[in-house]
Amino acid sequence: MAGYLVEDARKVTTLRLQEMKQQGEKIAMLTAYDYTMAQMLDHAGLDAILIGDSASNVMAGNKTTLPMTIDQMIYHATSVVRGVKRALVICDMPFGTYQINPTEGVRNAVRIMQESGCDALKLEGGIEIIETVKRIVETGIPVMGHLGLTPQSINKFGTFGVRAKDEAEAAKLLDDAHALEKAGCFGITLEKIPATLARQVARELHIPIIGIGAGNEVDGQVLVVQDMLGMSKGFNPKFLRRYADLYTTITDSVGQYVSDVKKVDFPNQQEEY
Ligand code: KIV
Repeated sequence: MAGYLVEDARKVTTLRLQEMKQQGEKIAMLTAYDYTMAQMLDHAGLDAILIGDSASNVMAGNKTTLPMTIDQMIYHATSVVRGVKRALVICDMPFGTYQINPTEGVRNAVRIMQESGCDALKLEGGIEIIETVKRIVETGIPVMGHLGLTPQSINKFGTFGVRAKDEAEAAKLLDDAHALEKAGCFGITLEKIPATLARQVARELHIPIIGIGAGNEVDGQVLVVQDMLGMSKGFNPKFLRRYADLYTTITDSVGQYVSDVKKVDFPNQQEEY
C-alpha cells in the first residue's frame, strides 16, 4: 500500500524531491524516532521522515539537543528505518560529530549510514562547515543543510526566537544557502526565519527548501510529530498547527484503564484464558 494520498509506491529518493520542486509539488516531512510511529507516518504517505536530534527533547526530556550522542541517534534511526518502506529517511548528525574537522565528520557520517541504513544526513550550519559537507557528499552520502534557528547553537543564540530578522544575518543566511547548494546539498531546512527571506532562498536555489516556521512559499514543510499530534504540552510556537490532541486521548484512555483495573473490571471473562 502506498499511503492515503499517494499513488506512487516507489521509494522516495533525493532525486524525487528535486523533481517535486521542479514540478511545484510540495514535500511533506515529519520527524520520527521509533519503529511504530515510522510505520504509521510512512503508511500515511509522507515524502520524507527525519530522525531529528529533537529526540533529545521529545524522547529523552532534555532542554536542548546537545546531549544527543551518535549511538543514541543510530538507535533511533535504525528503529525508524525498520518501519519505513517508501519515505526518504534522513538522520540528523548530532552535536559534536561533524564540527571538529572534515575527517571526523566523514567518519561519523559513514558510521551513521552504515549502522542505521538511513538514506541521507542533515547537518546544521553554513560556510563554517562547508568543507565537511563537501567531503561527506564526495563520499557518496546525500546531505541536507539546516539554517536559521539551528538548535545545536542555542547557547550561542541565547534564545529560541526568530533568526535572520536583521539585514546582516539575513545576508549571511542567503550566502550560506548558496554555499550549501554549491557544496552539493540535496536540500536545506530553514527553521524559524521570516517568510520573505525563506521565499527568496527557495526562489534563488534549485534544491528543495523545507521550512519549519518559515512560511509557505518554500518547497515543503517539516514539523516535530509529537507537536503536530498534540502529544506535547506547553510548546505553542506560532508556526505549529496541531492536527490532534493525543495528550488528552492518551491520558483519558490510561485513566480509564486505571479505573477498570481498580474496579476489577479488566480483564473480564472474554479477556481471560
Ligand atoms: O531535530 C529536528 O527535529 C529538526 C527539525 C525541527 C527540523 O531538526
